[in-house]
Amino acid sequence: MKKIIAFTEGDGVGKEVIPEGIKILKIIDEYTDFEFEFKEAPAGGAVWKKHGESLPEKSFETIKNSDALLFGAIGIPGLPQGVAEIAILNIRQGLDLYVNLRPIKLYEPLRDRCPLRDEFIGDGIDIYFVRENTEGLYKNIGYLKENEAQNIMHYTREGCERIIKFAFEFAKRKGHKKVTSVDKANILKPSQLWRKIFHDIGSKYPNIKIEDIYIDAFCQWLIRTPYAYQTVVTGNMFGDIISDEAAFLIGSLGMASSGNIHPNKVSMYEPIHGSAPDIAGKNIANPIGTILSVKLMMEESFQSKIGNEIENAVEEGLKEGRTIDIENPNLKTLSTKEMGDLISEKLRNKLKK
Ligand code: NAI
Ligand code: MG
Repeated sequence: MKKIIAFTEGDGVGKEVIPEGIKILKIIDEYTDFEFEFKEAPAGGAVWKKHGESLPEKSFETIKNSDALLFGAIGIPGLPQGVAEIAILNIRQGLDLYVNLRPIKLYEPLRDRCPLRDEFIGDGIDIYFVRENTEGLYKNIGYLKENEAQNIMHYTREGCERIIKFAFEFAKRKGHKKVTSVDKANILKPSQLWRKIFHDIGSKYPNIKIEDIYIDAFCQWLIRTPYAYQTVVTGNMFGDIISDEAAFLIGSLGMASSGNIHPNKVSMYEPIHGSAPDIAGKNIANPIGTILSVKLMMEESFQSKIGNEIENAVEEGLKEGRTIDIENPNLKTLSTKEMGDLISEKLRNKLKK
């Protein structure tokens, strides 16, 4: 199967982690029926400095004509607010990537890096956040004046239905027994529409339990009983914030992956961290968020089961060496490249068989 993979390294650590993701794809290419062709689609702060726009038309064309996009991170300190980051919104809106899928899984070897005590970790943390990715406050309806500013939280029935349906279909596919919806229906009108649609759609899945939780309460439940959640579906802003909080439960922001998805269309996969200017250029960033984004790409865009092998390779790698953000005094501390090499080696051994 021939697939065109567009890739954007972006700024800062994006340039260091994306090559590690591509390494994984090249191994898959070598040992399976997949054949990948890589096409660079430059975007971000450095590109803005040079061309005055952070997502040149040509890059967007490359992305549009690919089968999937692997995206690093963008943003450079000192640039006007948002000029680089707008590229991400433009890709999400331009490709109508209405699903933001963010897995939060605590790998056994990283229990020592989880900030929660053992009793709160329970049977483990393995949550999929399904965040609405095109509506709500991030639709960018509003204005900024000297003494006043506004953004409108706008949701449509169609927008709510498609994301909630995705969440239930996803839960069904994963064999999850429960879908949790996080909203603020006691205050916000869009949440009241959302909740009604959630119940309507949920009633069509008799084997899946449904649950509603208010966002503020959920923030504490996520810390108190993280083991209790499987698929969690929520709106754009709540999903942005809550999934970053959740990312720290798995040891580091550098571990968390994501997919910006429109099922059966070009979708974008990226680690959830930013360009991390504080550590950029040092070859110490954790590449696992990117590697796990490749896993998501294989599963969600290419319906491949190889994701399990990637995940096992990551888990094995974590028992031998760690980047500095998840370091363990009993294990080797590795650079970005060394961590990527270690996981690649593990994956290669699995696929060779
Ligand atoms: P950040 O995610 O870049 O960094 C937050 C903290 O996490 C820093 O201490 C950083 O060193 C650490 N960190 C991040 N990725 C890591 C990794 N792979 N391994 C180890 N440690 C890691 O967030 P921050 O500092 O708020 O933003 C920096 C820039 O990135 C800004 O310009 C921001 O707008 C942009 N950004 C871009 C995103 C994207 O491209 N999708 C997402 C979030 C932020
Ligand atoms: Mg965020």
